[in-house]
Amino acid sequence: MRNYPFPNPETKICLTIGHPVDKQKSLYMHNAGYEALGLNYLYLVRDIPPQQLAQGVNAMIQFGVSGMSVTMPHKVNIIATLDEMTPAVEKIGACNTVHVQEGKTIGYNSDVIGALTCLKKKTELKAKRAIVLGAGGAARSVVYGLLEEGCEVVVLNRTQKKAQLLGNDFGIRAYGFEAWNDYRQYDIVVNATSVGSRREEDCTCRLCKLLYRGEEANILFDENKVALDVVFQRNQTEFTKLLQGKGYNIVYGHEMLVAQGAFQFELFTGHQAPVEVMYTELKKNLESW
Ligand code: ATR
Repeated sequence: MRNYPFPNPETKICLTIGHPVDKQKSLYMHNAGYEALGLNYLYLVRDIPPQQLAQGVNAMIQFGVSGMSVTMPHKVNIIATLDEMTPAVEKIGACNTVHVQEGKTIGYNSDVIGALTCLKKKTELKAKRAIVLGAGGAARSVVYGLLEEGCEVVVLNRTQKKAQLLGNDFGIRAYGFEAWNDYRQYDIVVNATSVGSRREEDCTCRLCKLLYRGEEANILFDENKVALDVVFQRNQTEFTKLLQGKGYNIVYGHEMLVAQGAFQFELFTGHQAPVEVMYTELKKNLESW
């Protein structure tokens, strides 16, 4: 709790930038965290259209923001505006977190950190075998993180060509969904497609079809296996519903969202994030369809 007038001339500002931004939920968890620790910080959301990205970022820096979360469609194009970036941002080709220090911008990829933080709570990652579904930005972040931790990774994607591009970039095996059927030998499965983030959309992949049939899931994964769904817009997705109650260790997308938010919180404020407070606040604002 803050025991001083708030906001005030010293209040530090962090924000999410994207286009559009009407569905942004991160501000609730960040502001709840600031308030819980009595920090003189305020978190906002601003819409910056793609054609005004460089100008908009510059205006934010001049305005004195401490940090920015970067969301669609800016995660790739923001890189050209950065002063510095982590090796993860360079390799993945996407940045979703910008720390501003003395007017200099440093780019991070907090999706990698969020995914790894959550997975490591469930299992040791070294030498584990992982299937990653999807070949977009989220999949690239997860693949990068798993490889850094010493996992063996195979990528499956609806569009084979995109799978192959990712596979070539990271030097790993990558296939179209239908060209793969060896699901049994894996410890970790990650849904890094966008399936589940919109209503009434199923993944057509063979793995998900198997999972949808329920009993087959027992063949694919046993109790020591871990599933991560990067989709965070809902409490439950078809993917997590299928695995729930079958003894699997599931990491939900909203857990990953909080973990990456906690990383941003600590980066921007220098204070340990009150993860429980942030999680509770975020869950209140999730869709339950
Ligand atoms: P993000 O940056 O969030 O990863 P993206 O780059 O648009 O978003 O990637 C979305 C991913 O979800 C892609 O791998 C996409 O597959 P395609 O490469 O074939 O487009 C996948 N995806 C989206 N809708 C899907 C669906 N209905 N079934 C299976 N995969 C789907």
